[in-house]
Amino acid sequence: MPSNPYQIIASETPGRIGWDIRYFDQVDSTQRVAAELAQDGAEHGTVVIAERQSAGRGRLGRAWHSPPGVNLYTTVILRPRMPLAEVPRLSLVAGVAVADAFETITPGQVALKWPNDIWLNGRKAGGIIAEAVTDASRGLLCVLLGIGLNLNLASDDIPAELRGKATSLLITTGRECDRVQFAATLFKHLDLRYRAVEAGGFAAVRSVYDHYFALHDRQVTVIDGSITVSGVVRGIDADGALILETQNGPIRVLTGDVSLEGAYD
Ligand code: BTN
Repeated sequence: MPSNPYQIIASETPGRIGWDIRYFDQVDSTQRVAAELAQDGAEHGTVVIAERQSAGRGRLGRAWHSPPGVNLYTTVILRPRMPLAEVPRLSLVAGVAVADAFETITPGQVALKWPNDIWLNGRKAGGIIAEAVTDASRGLLCVLLGIGLNLNLASDDIPAELRGKATSLLITTGRECDRVQFAATLFKHLDLRYRAVEAGGFAAVRSVYDHYFALHDRQVTVIDGSITVSGVVRGIDADGALILETQNGPIRVLTGDVSLEGAYD
């Protein structure tokens, strides 16, 4: 392992998110590395950070553009005590923490596209993936919370297929950010929000998610496997489900990929 520039922000208090930071110059995916560490017993709050990923994974089997030296690619190992069905909420909680961290640098420009895209000025600057690791006899063993954030990515380095859809903190503010400092802010907020949700359920962050929520009253289409449903977004409920007003009345949507006109999907 190369020397670790993130070591100075490791809290060293076991149980805090980011207390143990494992840093790699290059990995295929921090999700895969974290899965291996978790299998070997890595504790709650252990974090994997890589400078670059050769096979970064997005949601729904998409690739995650992961060039070196500019962004943050991290996976947090969580060992939550919760039913498997509630795991997707952790990515909403992480969205709130990422928004909190962006808000400290560029107030008023961050929004969350349910379930877990992070927008700056209406373009995607980050994404989150929550993968549950289960065991037939012991149930939920851990959750691998992957967070990819475009921090110092320049507009010329955005791949052609993402132009007009993706952005970065650098593009938004015109200033490079200190990635180590940013990671420290992120882990601090993630730890606080995670603890709040552990104690009080998703309801503990619902109002702040709602504050950052980008989809109020937007006409959207949600695709979940073979099911497609369209309607107007009326908010999120206490479980983090999307409330959609359809032609047949309001429904709750628990998972899916949202697309809306004029924005990145
Ligand atoms: C999305 O599709 O929006 C989620 C993207 C998640 C990307 C991050 S980068 C760090 C971690 N490692 C991966 O391979 N994926 C996640």
